[in-house]
Amino acid sequence: MSDMVKYLEVARQAALKAGQYLLKGLTEKKTIDFKGQVDLVTAYDRKSELMIFEEFNRAFPEHGFMAEEDISKSGRSDYCWIVDPLDGTTNFAHGLPIFCVSIALARGQDIVIGVVFDPTRQEMFTACKGEGARLNDRRIMVSETEELDKSLLATGFPYDVRTSPRNNLDHFSNFAVRAQAVRRCGSAALDLCYVACGRFDGFWEMKLKPWDLAAGALMVKEAGGRITNFSGAEFELSSPDIVASNGRIHKAMLEIIGISFVK
Ligand code: IPD
Ligand code: CA
Ligand code: CA
Repeated sequence: MSDMVKYLEVARQAALKAGQYLLKGLTEKKTIDFKGQVDLVTAYDRKSELMIFEEFNRAFPEHGFMAEEDISKSGRSDYCWIVDPLDGTTNFAHGLPIFCVSIALARGQDIVIGVVFDPTRQEMFTACKGEGARLNDRRIMVSETEELDKSLLATGFPYDVRTSPRNNLDHFSNFAVRAQAVRRCGSAALDLCYVACGRFDGFWEMKLKPWDLAAGALMVKEAGGRITNFSGAEFELSSPDIVASNGRIHKAMLEIIGISFVK
């Protein structure tokens, strides 16, 4: 078994285990802590993170680990796992079944593996650099929609939406009158996977973190899509503002972003 196949398999198992744990908790009453005015965290986020960390620490003790909640570890190798143990926490806390576990493996700045598991639908999205993207082991591709006004788009709003003027409401209203429709599902990692498999034609969001993006960004690229920052430069792990699309509507999306884009 090659190293990459082994990494992918362990990541898939870790996502599956954490995802099944989260699914059992969906309808339970949760204790909620607030990290900010609207940014919340539950004990499930933390336990999921710990479960995933333990899997990787056992299988690949030399790898680094970076995750949203409490755990981080710098490794002895160039490899680092980038983990969102529960993407869609606000949905999960309300019992809304739209959330996932997102796991990526980076070698330096290069994302080489992405795994996103949605336990509600039992959908496992996987991608390996240069090997394509898959949904439950079947190859996926981005959509073929050519025009923005026929496109179904997705977005999200940052946690400082109440206090920051850079809160995406301007872009949202510009896209709302140009696209076929715009959705706000509440999980950036799933939004990206849905671009990868053609359910969405495009997605944009600002102020995202590497754990929201890493796995989904690889999924979009490997499915034949495009992902850039708001100025059109190729996606990097440190880009918080992103536009992801089927490639065909990318220019039109960047133009809309440009109408109100303030650097
Ligand atoms: C959030 C979700 C949401 C996006 C936020 C993210 P979390 O992640 O991905 O869709 O709009 O910007 O922070 O907090 O649920 O892991
Ligand atoms: Ca997240
Ligand atoms: Ca999270």
